[in-house]
Amino acid sequence: MKLPVKGVDKQEILDRLDSFKADDLDWKSGKVFGYIFDPGREAMEVGKQAYMKYLTENALDFTSFPSLFKFEKEIVEMAIDHLQGGSQATGNFTNGGTESIILAVKSARDRARKLKPAIKEPEMILPITAHAAFHKAARYLNVKTKLIGVDKNFRADLAELKKAVSTNTILIVGSAPSYAHGVIDPIKDMAAVALENNILFHTDACVGGFMLPFFKKLGEPVPEFDFSVPGVTSISMDLHKYAYTPKGASLVLYRDRELRKHQIFACSDWTGYTIINNAILSSRSGGPMAAAYAVLNFLGEDGYLDIAKNKIEATKKLLEGVEKHPDLKIMANPDFCMFSFTSHTINIFHLIDEMNSRGWYIQPALSYGPSRHNIHLSINHSNVEWVDAFLEELYDCVEAVRSKPSGELAPAIKKEFENRDIDAMSDEEVKQLLELGAISGDGLPDVFAEVNEILDALPAKLRERLLIEYTNGIF
Ligand SMILES: Cc1ncc(COP(=O)(O)O)c(C=O)c1O
Repeated sequence: MKLPVKGVDKQEILDRLDSFKADDLDWKSGKVFGYIFDPGREAMEVGKQAYMKYLTENALDFTSFPSLFKFEKEIVEMAIDHLQGGSQATGNFTNGGTESIILAVKSARDRARKLKPAIKEPEMILPITAHAAFHKAARYLNVKTKLIGVDKNFRADLAELKKAVSTNTILIVGSAPSYAHGVIDPIKDMAAVALENNILFHTDACVGGFMLPFFKKLGEPVPEFDFSVPGVTSISMDLHKYAYTPKGASLVLYRDRELRKHQIFACSDWTGYTIINNAILSSRSGGPMAAAYAVLNFLGEDGYLDIAKNKIEATKKLLEGVEKHPDLKIMANPDFCMFSFTSHTINIFHLIDEMNSRGWYIQPALSYGPSRHNIHLSINHSNVEWVDAFLEELYDCVEAVRSKPSGELAPAIKKEFENRDIDAMSDEEVKQLLELGAISGDGLPDVFAEVNEILDALPAKLRERLLIEYTNGIF
């Protein structure tokens, strides 16, 4: 592919863009249970228009664009009020949950460097259910991770937490809820451990922070997770998930400015313009901020309460329907509009492919520790009207895949690699394994059951190496 010598006609380009979507998930159908947060046509349109109005404005310099300064301040104020932060609480707008998390970890690390200089190898304690973004933060920022287990309902194990605390711990993390199983960690007890040991505590409320207060208003039992809990020092909360604002919108919030100060980057060590960055990116579009401001104001409390009510009902119905099926098993009792289920009798990877080939999208999760491979559902506003049809088709697909066998390759690969030293494996061996598992080539696979089965059979570290090798090859 080369840059065209002559510019292409605008209509042709727009037509091409539409045609490229042919193989994408058809999220407008409402049958996609993940990735997409659709608040309905009107609110979506408000977000789009606001986004386009500020597409070009640059948050690199808030003094040149006071409008963006205003959006960020007002959105953060709304969020602090929503999550019961006091008068000292503060925060910033970021472009995603991962960015909010990396910044919270950076603040904890840099504060420890200043206040606890004896710590040379900082550690953060994560339940195994914490989002992968914390591992990314750890690898980017050179912070060690100490993983702790979970109870039968996939909530962080307090006894393990207490044992894991050391003089090197700079941060403890809990989720509200964790993505995989939709359960809220015992934030109050975990934050108490942090407080007792003079350690910071981060609630990852990326997925639940915005909706949970509405669930609570509607009478649902929502465990405490926000700044009202003593010891919670920072929270990540996405807007581009269940606040239904266009993508590129999240918040990192702090109990006070003393901690947040460690997040801000200023640089005068060069010949160019003055740099002050609240977040990771420097140049960034004003679009996500303007759109977030617009959608939050457009929907308001009443709009979000309506959405919350529908989703609670839909989630209960789905849980009931899945639970009733003798071949399917709910993994954990969720606190949010997301949950996972597995099967001991049929191959769930075939079930996923079958459902997805019929126009649905449900997401696979591989086995990890006590979490058996499973199907994850994030229940959204746009899914609500499809609940009955979904269950009917799910039951039908169970029958369709009942006789589909599991591959023979996965058990053989499992046996071969379960005791291997993954770090000692050469890149060549990893490439050979990719070819063996038919995970090679330069395109994207159409069906995933075999690939998922093989990945599922491998140790996590080897899965990571395969995925990196594969991705490095196709882009
Ligand atoms: C609990 C949780 N934390 C963090 C993230 C990361 O958010 P993002 O994909 O916006 O970076 C997610 C994403 O699903 C999540 O579910």
